[in-house]
Amino acid sequence: MLRFAKDLRQGYILQAMGEVLDEHGCDTLNTRILWKDNIITRDDLHMRSVHMTSFESFERGPEAAEKMGAFLGNGVFVTDGNRWKRERALIRPFLNKERVSDFEIFTKYAEKALAILNDAAEAGATLDLQDLFSRFTLDSASEFLLGHAPDALSASRPVPFHSRIGSKGAATDDPFGSFLYSFEEVQVTISLRWRLNTFFPLYEMLGDKTKPHADVINKWMKPTVMKALQDKARDREHGVKLNSEERTLLDSLVESTDDEETVRYGILNVLMAGRDTTAGLLTFTVYLLTMYPDVLKRLKEEVLSVLGSSGNPTQEAIRNMPYMNAVLSETLRLYPGAPMGIRNSITEVLLPTADGSPPLYFPPRARVTWLTLLMHRRADLWGADCEEFDPARWLDPARMAAYNARPSIYVPFLSGPRMCPGQMFALSEASFMISRLMQKFSGFELVPEAIPEGAAPPPAWKNGKGRQRIEKVWPSTAFTAFIKGGLWVRPVH
Ligand code: HEM
Repeated sequence: MLRFAKDLRQGYILQAMGEVLDEHGCDTLNTRILWKDNIITRDDLHMRSVHMTSFESFERGPEAAEKMGAFLGNGVFVTDGNRWKRERALIRPFLNKERVSDFEIFTKYAEKALAILNDAAEAGATLDLQDLFSRFTLDSASEFLLGHAPDALSASRPVPFHSRIGSKGAATDDPFGSFLYSFEEVQVTISLRWRLNTFFPLYEMLGDKTKPHADVINKWMKPTVMKALQDKARDREHGVKLNSEERTLLDSLVESTDDEETVRYGILNVLMAGRDTTAGLLTFTVYLLTMYPDVLKRLKEEVLSVLGSSGNPTQEAIRNMPYMNAVLSETLRLYPGAPMGIRNSITEVLLPTADGSPPLYFPPRARVTWLTLLMHRRADLWGADCEEFDPARWLDPARMAAYNARPSIYVPFLSGPRMCPGQMFALSEASFMISRLMQKFSGFELVPEAIPEGAAPPPAWKNGKGRQRIEKVWPSTAFTAFIKGGLWVRPVH
């Protein structure tokens, strides 16, 4: 347990769990930490059972509320059964359709981000791209969900060569920075709680460590929700009705209830789900492009041939960029936005095996932690070059035969009833931003000297395994994948 907990802040991403599985020579293991059934798995078929075929036998369970309740209330991430179905049904219609207005939102905030990058390129300056992408996805997700944004892109950003390590990336000291810090720190605290399991209260004897952060976040969210509830009352009085294209998730939630808390948590759950994951995808994509110039060159050629050197991408244009899609798929294979996940079993389950040997017995009331990132990097599933970043594999039917025959080996958005409803939004947003970057910049140079103290990859990693040996930054995870200390780069025109 301590090894897993320590790994959260000190190890390579999911290193300790991978090592424990390697030591035992298996892909699914009951760690029985302190006599409790605590199963970890990087077996795609076992994961498929949990997510899909035996879905009804697993739940988030009461521990989800215990560990995440102060931050996420009764939202879609915390609930099961009918409550979860109701929350999900409210959210899905917004994420499932192609809305022209989404691209207007991407355009508005991508322009702001590009202006910042442009200034940096002209001045030969260094900036933290992970921070910039997190602001871009926060502003665009907020506008999409609430109808307006906090304008995070205009607030002060981490200072190159002088930044401290923050909760995930680099820290900023202004008041808005404290909102961002709370938003990230609360996720780190919750991740530690999951790893410490039933023992986490021992580490929080002086008080609930998520509460102060939840208070900062709620202080920011409450006025918006209160105003929306007041507007609803006023609109009802005047018989005003919004058409579906104008509606935000906030409008919809407000229409379904008068309870401020339910609306607030409804929004917060989707904001949490959508912001850091998509920022992570953008961050890791650019990081990989800095390491693989041939991929950058081919991607740039595709974008320029479809869009030209200016002009905003449309949904149609994105559909005509197979290599872009391959680059994003390959990034999500190696650095899935949610590298791991957790459920608890309600009843016993028999887990199927790939080689036809007898199924594995999965006990009731046991916890399962699935490790998407480790499964995506398994050589027996993805081939000897499984640790290589090679988007071309996605365009080669022969190399993709294993995946086509067994789609369970690639699940960055999960599978089954709880599959990510934001997949289309996320991929559109990421394709949009990466296209604009390809149009405007010839590339990005990594600036290792700007990485805050304590966040550079330790020299001992060179003797490690797989990608750990070649990392130029420190990939880590707390709910979502991120680069410790940020991605410090110099944009080049
Ligand atoms: C690259 C970006 C993204 C990735 C990799 C990703 C991945 C995932 C994964 C793996 C889950 C399942 C988590 C679990 O059950 O343990 C999930 C759930 C969810 N995602 Fe995403 N996501 C992304 C972007 C988004 C966006 C942009 C939104 C919304 C704007 C969103 C909304 C949600 C919601 C609401 C859930 C909860 C679904 C439920 O429990 O029924 N996601 N996502």
